Amino acid sequence: MRLLPHLIENNRAWAESVLQEDPEFFAKLAKGQKPEILWIGCADSRVPANQIIGLKPGDVFVHRNIANVVVHSDFNCQSVIEFAVSVIRVKHIIVCGHYSCGGVKAASQDHHVGLIDGWLRHIRDVRQKHDAILRKISDEDQLIDRLCELNVVEQAKNVCYSTVVQEAWEHGRELSVHGWIYAIKDGLLRDLNVTISGATEIADAYRVAVNRPG
Ligand code: CO
Repeated sequence: MRLLPHLIENNRAWAESVLQEDPEFFAKLAKGQKPEILWIGCADSRVPANQIIGLKPGDVFVHRNIANVVVHSDFNCQSVIEFAVSVIRVKHIIVCGHYSCGGVKAASQDHHVGLIDGWLRHIRDVRQKHDAILRKISDEDQLIDRLCELNVVEQAKNVCYSTVVQEAWEHGRELSVHGWIYAIKDGLLRDLNVTISGATEIADAYRVAVNRPG
């Protein structure tokens, strides 16, 4: 039963257009994937990884959850990182947040939502950790946006401290972690300059990213 026939039609039209451009496109993809990038982003429907960075199917391995949170005990996210780094052997991991993130907004308020509160707790921890920076911002929207940035920096750091990434660096692997943020209102990405390519770079990069003038 086709409950959403227009999506199936969209798909056929898309596949045809791809084949018109490159008749071998799907045949090549069917042989396997070799993306160089792992994208860890927010599940928000307005922040689709491939479109934003102009990449095709096969070019980026993607993990998305509410507010792009990387937790050491989250088997889902950690398994994605392990597979991407150890099996696919990506060279870059991009943690990409976005301004006006609903998850970050919800975490910055104190009322309870439900099951998601346990997840948002991780962002509330970020908020508490950086209270000295955030309390100086009186404008509510600016405060949320700064928390969105700090959340990216914290989650990028969590990626760096994951067992898989630490081991990759111990083995001399070429692997960089990046922290980016996307603005839905203009469609543009911004590099938060938290690029880390080895264990010895974490502390300095983190300090600079957290303390940059807002
Ligand atoms: Co979001």
